[in-house]
Amino acid sequence: MADRWFESVAVAQRRAERRLPRSVYRALVAGSERGATMEDNLAAFAELGLAPMVAGQPASRELATTLMGQAISFPVVVSPTGVQAVHPDGEVAVAQAAASRGVAAGLSSFASKPVEEVVAANPRTFFQLYWSGSRDDIAGRIERARAAGCVGMIATLDWSFATARDWGSPYIPERLDVRAALRLAPEAIARPAWLWSYLRTGALPALTVPNMARPGQLAPSFFGAYGEWMQTPPATWDDVAWMVATWRGPFMVKGVIRVDDARRAVDAGATAISVSNHGGNNLDGTPATVRALPAVARAVGDQVEVVLDGGVRRGSDVVKAMALGARAVMVGRAPLWGLAANGRAGVENVLDILRSGVDSTLRGIGRSSVHELSEDDVVVPAGFLRQLG
Ligand SMILES: Cc1cc2nc3c(=O)[nH]c(=O)nc-3n(C[C@H](O)[C@H](O)[C@H](O)COP(=O)(O)O)c2cc1C
Repeated sequence: MADRWFESVAVAQRRAERRLPRSVYRALVAGSERGATMEDNLAAFAELGLAPMVAGQPASRELATTLMGQAISFPVVVSPTGVQAVHPDGEVAVAQAAASRGVAAGLSSFASKPVEEVVAANPRTFFQLYWSGSRDDIAGRIERARAAGCVGMIATLDWSFATARDWGSPYIPERLDVRAALRLAPEAIARPAWLWSYLRTGALPALTVPNMARPGQLAPSFFGAYGEWMQTPPATWDDVAWMVATWRGPFMVKGVIRVDDARRAVDAGATAISVSNHGGNNLDGTPATVRALPAVARAVGDQVEVVLDGGVRRGSDVVKAMALGARAVMVGRAPLWGLAANGRAGVENVLDILRSGVDSTLRGIGRSSVHELSEDDVVVPAGFLRQLG
């Protein structure tokens, strides 16, 4: 719908805020503790500068690349996020949008749609795994993802269950029973367009996580699965090597921000890492990922594909991250704002904004390809960088 088109991710976020019930919107904002990491992810990109050229730039630009064995039309991948039930089509709408724009997408373990439906919409799906339950449970999820046709695995290992927020957390019910519906009713009624988008499908958000179901069992509730994950001791590096060996294909460790961890991920057999702090939803006080990226890329960039996620909202952010050593970036909130604002078309709108932003930034700095980018293409202020570990 032409009137639903938006020109920037910030506009999509404002639309999402107007359209979603307050608790739902705040679940997407997420963050943790004082929100310092979440804010620094954005602030750091703004601190980085660009040096434009005015004549003699190449007339066309190459944006396509590959990641984890997949050809992608530009260096952006949709990061796995577990809250896409904010729209009735959820992960399927995101997968359709990613497929239509030629990019890969991660699918969260805590997704609201079964992996089989999502892969049918986008064959370039990477399944995201948490270290939750027994090795047998985890092997079962890996085999299910393989049978569904997923083309890569992402193990997210940085979650530390720190979700208390100084600004207060939204109310998320265990299930949408009468009591929960009554509590949420005033917010939902204040957002009739959103409520109608659900009511016309004849169902309310199920709040279950079908990809965490054991074979032959019903999908557990979000909180049921979360409780099991909380009780699982953290993965060891041997466990990581075991996951890599069990999957036997392109494997990303997501959440690495220290140089020593990046080396351990390489030793465990990972083929990619994402320099990530979970979008600042986790251990607050972790620096912005783009500050830590160059040290990690220098240490392991010739051995694994180094990806960055955290704070990417525009094409110039993609270019800055690539200039500082990323092969590609993943985006978490940006497609969520698009999804909330306008479903599949909103996610396509966000991907188009990022794509054209990459292209115009390359033009502005006189580069003909995303593969040509180097540290010389960004202005890095003194004191910007962080080396961890
Ligand atoms: C609401 C929300 C839910 C998320 N759920 C997951 C998840 O289930 N699995 C995962 O690996 N990362 C998850 N993430 C983290 C994202 O994959 C990504 O690391 C982060 O959003 C990147 O930062 P950005 O939002 O600034 O792009 C989530 C992030 C948000 C905001």
